Amino acid sequence: MNLVQTISNTSNSSSMKLKRSHFSCALTQAAAGQEVTVSGWVATRRDLGGIIFIELRDNRGTIQVVADPSKNPQVHKHFEKLRSEYVISCKGPLTIRPEGSENPNMKSGAVEIYPTEIEILNTSKVLPFQIDQADHVNEDLRLRYRYLELRNDGKRIHLLNRHKIVHAMRNYLNDQGFTEIETPILSKSTPEGARDYLVPSRVHPHNFYALPQSPQLYKQLLMMSGFEKYYQVARCFRDEDLRADRQPEFTQIDLELSFVDQEDIINMVEGLIVTAFDAVGFKVQAPFPRMTHADAMGFYGCDRPDVRFDMRLVDLTDIMAKSDFKAFASVANDGGIVKAINVKGGEKMSRKEIDDIRDLAMTSEYGAKGLAWILYRKTETGGVELNSPIIKFFKEDELKEIETRCGVEPGDLVLFCADKEALVLHVLGKLRLHIAKISGLMDHKNIKLLWVVDFPMFEYDPKSKRYKANHHPFTMPMREDLEKLDTNPAEVKTYAYDIVFNGIELGGGSVRVHNTEIQSKIFDVLGIDKATAKERFGFLLEALEMGAPPHGGIALGLDRFVMLLSNTESIRDVIAFPKNQAAFCPLTSAPSAVDEDQLEELAMSLREIG
Ligand code: AMO
Ligand code: AMP
Repeated sequence: MNLVQTISNTSNSSSMKLKRSHFSCALTQAAAGQEVTVSGWVATRRDLGGIIFIELRDNRGTIQVVADPSKNPQVHKHFEKLRSEYVISCKGPLTIRPEGSENPNMKSGAVEIYPTEIEILNTSKVLPFQIDQADHVNEDLRLRYRYLELRNDGKRIHLLNRHKIVHAMRNYLNDQGFTEIETPILSKSTPEGARDYLVPSRVHPHNFYALPQSPQLYKQLLMMSGFEKYYQVARCFRDEDLRADRQPEFTQIDLELSFVDQEDIINMVEGLIVTAFDAVGFKVQAPFPRMTHADAMGFYGCDRPDVRFDMRLVDLTDIMAKSDFKAFASVANDGGIVKAINVKGGEKMSRKEIDDIRDLAMTSEYGAKGLAWILYRKTETGGVELNSPIIKFFKEDELKEIETRCGVEPGDLVLFCADKEALVLHVLGKLRLHIAKISGLMDHKNIKLLWVVDFPMFEYDPKSKRYKANHHPFTMPMREDLEKLDTNPAEVKTYAYDIVFNGIELGGGSVRVHNTEIQSKIFDVLGIDKATAKERFGFLLEALEMGAPPHGGIALGLDRFVMLLSNTESIRDVIAFPKNQAAFCPLTSAPSAVDEDQLEELAMSLREIG
């Protein structure tokens, strides 16, 4: 008599009779012959002439489970009921698959289970998309059912990586004597420069908390308490325009240290980064190269250069100023600049591709007035033939000088842009990245970490005709530039540093001002009067007067960190429940309207949007 016990449990009973003995990944030939119990979801179900094959998916992979009516009719009867995504447990001996039916794509591909018992733990509706097809589904639908998308281990891996990275970072910081401290979420506006998310107070009608853009001021206050080494895995909130690497709420690995200088902080953070990379199998070597902000802007047109490829911006302003090419000479003699980039081997591009690049440069996103080019085509006899609408304007020696400065070799394409400095840097900096991308130069396995240092303290905003803080107003100016705070603020450099990973800003920090006098001068340059400074940051200014030690720190963008190490292009992939590009959560429909009663309690009313 068959001693098979078959349990069908589609009711709401909470007890589970068949408890898992193994995860699928542990089921290899070595375990054959053992009686095992597996639990998970029905990933696929195939009925081949009465024999039903289930691929059961668990947290670690999949395993084939087979019901043969001639071997075990009762189990088979239950298998007939199974549909995609039913939740089941199966118990039975692990057997080696017949020769030729192994699946090398599965860890458990050499074995299968012919269960003697099955327990159906839950049924499932037909899903809005198949788990393994999520990549072909529109993003809002995926986010609406994010919990289903995450059933795919290719998607869960990013969150597992995130966990490993945070775990390694916590261990490193704990070993270095840091204390993990939480700072308030219901907070006061911090000056990181984005718009705040505001939370109305019921108890203090018409007053608002701001969600922190970062724990900046609190962590500085903790230094004044004597903690010396603080860290936090800190959630930050910024209401800003979203991009592939930005979310309205994101996480920083936020640090602050006392009695240190820039060198100490950079060394410590390099150790932290090496450890975090190692946690997910990437080896990088410290110390990382450093580049001044001025060189980053001058040679790469941006403050977070991608140095996996060269294609530097070359200055030709002096040559052009004296040339007969009016379009360039007038710009060069009128306070503008002329720069070029050399696209190595650019002769492979068709005329249409070059025209497309020029048209792109002239879109409003780039803003160039034109994009001139010279193509140095290789000839069959090994010489070079110049092809360009502008060479006729240049003398022999000018052309020679352009070639030398740009490092031209036969086959290269040089692109020129002339305009105000900021625009030239913007256009060529962006084109450099665009051309690298379409030419396949952005190899994600080629990791280039770089410190950008010596940031200017201020950035002049021509629209508002005011200075803005480049990093934030609490950044320490370089000792030798302190006097320029009064005379020439634009020239003041700081002890601020960004860590850049393949062209993405991974983190930024600075040594802070710990002296009220310098802090007040910075507010003066920023046009923040005494009353406003007192109202907004009075608590910090007060603390600076009560024995503030020298201190400094950094914040690393955890989401970007994981995104880059997971080789995914979207920050949303590494966040469990992200918002979409419109800062909306398709899963919960947040933000959403609230009841009149709630508004009433907050002493608020809504008005029409005008
Ligand atoms: P900062 O504003 O440069 O510095 O932020 C530090 C890092 O946080 C990440 N980041 C973001 N990640 C995802 N979405 C966003 N919207 C977003 N905004 C920033 C970036 C960035 O490099 N208080 C200072 C740090 C300090 O001085 O110690 C700060 O917040 O990776
Ligand atoms: P033009 O003399 O205006 O016909 O321009 C001759 C070439 O120079 C064309 O290829 C234009 O795209 C290019 N050009 C014109 N103005 C600029 C500029 N400001 N920067 C770069 N190229 C330009």
